[in-house]
Amino acid sequence: KVKKNVSRKVKFKVKKKVSRKVKPKVKKKVSRKVKSKVKNDIEKELIFKTRPEWIKAALVNKTKYQKKYSDSIKNNNEFWKKEGKRITWIKPYKKIKNVKYSKTDVKIKWYEDGTLNASSNCIDRHLKDKKDKTAIIWVGDNPNDTRKISYKQLHSEVSKAANGLKKLGIKKGDRVTIYLTMIPELAITMLACARIGAIHSIIFGGFLAESISGRINDCESEYIITSDEGVRGGKIIPLKINVDEALINCPNVKKCIVIKRTGNYINWVDGRDVWYEDLIKDVSNKCEPEEMNAEDPLFILYTSGSTGKPKGVLHTTGGYMVYASMTHQYIFNYKPRDVYWCTADIGWVTGHSYIIYGPLANGATTIMHEGVPNYPDWSRWWQIIDKYKVNIFYTAPTAIRSIMREGDKYVKKTSRKSLKLLGTVGEPINPEAWLWYYKTVGNSKCPIVDTWWQTETGGILISPQTGAINLKPGSATKPFYGIKPSIIDKNGKEIKGAGEGRLCISQSWPGQMRTVYGDHQRFIDTYFSQFDGKYFTGDGAKRDKDGYYWITGRVDDVIIVSGHNLGTAEIESAFVAHEKVAESAVVGYPHDIKGNGLYCYVTLNVGEEPNGELERDLKLWVRKQIGPLATPDIIHFSPGLPKTRSGKIMRRILRKIAANEHDQLGDTSTLADPSVVQSLVDNRKNI
Ligand code: WTA
Repeated sequence: KVKKNVSRKVKFKVKKKVSRKVKPKVKKKVSRKVKSKVKNDIEKELIFKTRPEWIKAALVNKTKYQKKYSDSIKNNNEFWKKEGKRITWIKPYKKIKNVKYSKTDVKIKWYEDGTLNASSNCIDRHLKDKKDKTAIIWVGDNPNDTRKISYKQLHSEVSKAANGLKKLGIKKGDRVTIYLTMIPELAITMLACARIGAIHSIIFGGFLAESISGRINDCESEYIITSDEGVRGGKIIPLKINVDEALINCPNVKKCIVIKRTGNYINWVDGRDVWYEDLIKDVSNKCEPEEMNAEDPLFILYTSGSTGKPKGVLHTTGGYMVYASMTHQYIFNYKPRDVYWCTADIGWVTGHSYIIYGPLANGATTIMHEGVPNYPDWSRWWQIIDKYKVNIFYTAPTAIRSIMREGDKYVKKTSRKSLKLLGTVGEPINPEAWLWYYKTVGNSKCPIVDTWWQTETGGILISPQTGAINLKPGSATKPFYGIKPSIIDKNGKEIKGAGEGRLCISQSWPGQMRTVYGDHQRFIDTYFSQFDGKYFTGDGAKRDKDGYYWITGRVDDVIIVSGHNLGTAEIESAFVAHEKVAESAVVGYPHDIKGNGLYCYVTLNVGEEPNGELERDLKLWVRKQIGPLATPDIIHFSPGLPKTRSGKIMRRILRKIAANEHDQLGDTSTLADPSVVQSLVDNRKNI
């Protein structure tokens, strides 16, 4: 014991001594390293100019974009009058826009006298010339499971499902909850709802009972569609068990439709539960699409806010379809023969707009992957790209970082030569990940579109168009047609030219959400009460001298240090730019002198070990990149970070742990892996 004690003491002393001695050396070393890296990659602002071959392949060039953009703002009504025609209407619209944005009253209507059906826009209108074209390539979790669904087959399957739903008494305006993993029936049943005018409310298959019942009750949905089980990454997800548990608290649910995915035994409630295969057995494969008004609801999708329970974001039919289809075509530079893959889950808005409604409205071939990027191994996504010759690939920065962390070898095994364009969405992408995505995944030949948008916006609002806009890694670049961003300073004044503040949108666009389902006042309070006449996004943004937008993160994630704003995204990006760091999350904690200190959670790359020297290096590294103000106060090495199932880091929890308030963590039910939290609490650093 004595020996041990002594040795620890000695070690400490030695360490201290050595570290003081070594310090200047280390500093020098790091600073040289920092210098060259920063110079190469970050400090010198990177611009990737549109290349001649990108311009050649693009739908619009710079002149066309600028003209069309300025036209879309100046002659907004005329612009959308023309663009609305890309959709097939049953009764053409005469009215274009009827919008009122104020602090007390908000009304948003587009094409309000037109009628259409979303499912027939995604299917029927392609039957004339594309009936045998593949609409959906379904790629199973198991690489041997795969299925191609042509537009004609999709028509038949969706019609049967629609007739099945009708047989149960489901009609226009009814809310139908869908809780599934990524199986073809998810696409089929959502389009079947759209076909008969029922409003779908899709719940991501990773949510559990409490979230399911909350969402069902909020929109008073009487029907739910699920499957016996789901399969993801070689694991079984007990969907029906979760639904059974949820429905204990949902007395209004009349029917639970069950799709067979694994065929394993499940509990059965007679009278309530119905097999999907029985429902569609004897029904016709033709179903006349319901004529819907442009402003009839298409779907509800729940999204969490900074306060309160999740909000039911309501999207309507006409404007949403116009906007989803248009953005999909222009931003992804979509051409009729392209194979397009968005890796999102349909349970999120990205899947709604950019796996189903946008691509199918454009007659595209869209991939639906049931699995995850690392099953059977980390090469999976790149193998799928090679196998199906994917041309357009759209994913999230968090996925890119986790794949990047495993090293290049899994990517390099594949060719990915079919790729023409890459996209990202969901959070700011740090330049380090951008460059890796560009060089390693895209073989330095594909432009990247960093697309900024929200569940509420229905489609992409800020993003490059690759033939028209030079790329700057980390910037979502410029607004899409008809989008007028404003940046508002601390005093509520609009900033003209370069500057930083709160990001608002000053005029409506067709894909905008119309209300919070059942609570219009909450809609007004959340998005319109802050700045008169503007939609407030909840994000912060910078506009640079070239008019490029840089999203700095949620406004509530800003940390004020010594009276200065620091974006968590900016600091995290600096961390991740270090060669040993895989991921990081930064939160503020109360600091006697500075107001807030920076508590930084850091996950290292596989094979790296945390130690005091690395901690010191990282502090210097971040200080060097952003400035002394951003010097991290605390670095907490952690093997994982608490994330929602959609991959968003839950900073609320990290803030509580940093502040030593882990008895007040609040609702942790949406965490992907709750065990991460306990390990963080156990290893909390004292402040
Ligand atoms: C963030 C996802 C920076 C942003 C479509 C927004 C982004 C929130 C980007 C919406 C991006 C999304 N760069 N931040 N390219 N894309 N975000 O509702 O904070 O799940 O407000 O919609 O994600 O997330 P949501």
